[in-house]
Amino acid sequence: AGTGTFFVGGNWKCNGTKESISKLVSDLNSAELEADVDVVVAPPFLYIDQVKNALTDRIQISAQNSWVGKGGAFTGEISVEQLKDIGCKWVILGHSERRHAIGEKDEFIGKKAAYALSNGLGVIACIGELLEQREAGKTFDVCFEQLKAFADTVPSWDNVVIAYEPVWAIGTGRVATPAQAQEVHVAVRDWLKKNVSSEVASKIRIIYGGSVNGSNSAELAKQEDIDGFLVGGASLKGPEFATIVNSVL
Ligand code: G3P
Repeated sequence: AGTGTFFVGGNWKCNGTKESISKLVSDLNSAELEADVDVVVAPPFLYIDQVKNALTDRIQISAQNSWVGKGGAFTGEISVEQLKDIGCKWVILGHSERRHAIGEKDEFIGKKAAYALSNGLGVIACIGELLEQREAGKTFDVCFEQLKAFADTVPSWDNVVIAYEPVWAIGTGRVATPAQAQEVHVAVRDWLKKNVSSEVASKIRIIYGGSVNGSNSAELAKQEDIDGFLVGGASLKGPEFATIVNSVL
């Protein structure tokens, strides 16, 4: 950790029931969370209101996706305006599951990010390579191309957190080594310096996601350019998520 306030997000993905979420919220409410960490959880849309009403204000709420423009006749979508209305401060965009399972493309993701930022949501902008891309030596190329799609559209990087999530590490139990994650985070910062500005490069938080848990987070957090985490599976367990939040110390 080195840049800005440590940032830990819990991406609950498509998990939970009213009952399990109520238990998770009560575990989070009673957890001791270090003061100097930004903590965010992203429940499934359906449960955002339940979570917002019960969760301590200490933890902010993110959506897992948002529509690319103003709401209206877009069946099945949720607009940025609605997310703000219900109390969301953030949205996760470009997650690998939306890129690879749903087929979202760079350009569409870039437009979503621009719309969300212009309309007052913070964006957790996800990038990351597939295993075959890493094995073919294309990790940086893939990450830079995904970054470029954000750089081409976003009005400002002030409310952006970049999440590097190597796809091979997501939900697999195969976490990137601290050195592997650090190497990409440095490359991302360097790309931003060359293509956006030194100021953005030095201020932006770059967080790591992919099989982060309560046992590996402290080692990862020691890396200079790992400024937090985006946690999937382990964020469904309140006490373990709290351990990850507190791992910066
Ligand atoms: O967005 C978080 C994520 O994709 C990582 O998931 O389950 O490997 O922590 P997980």
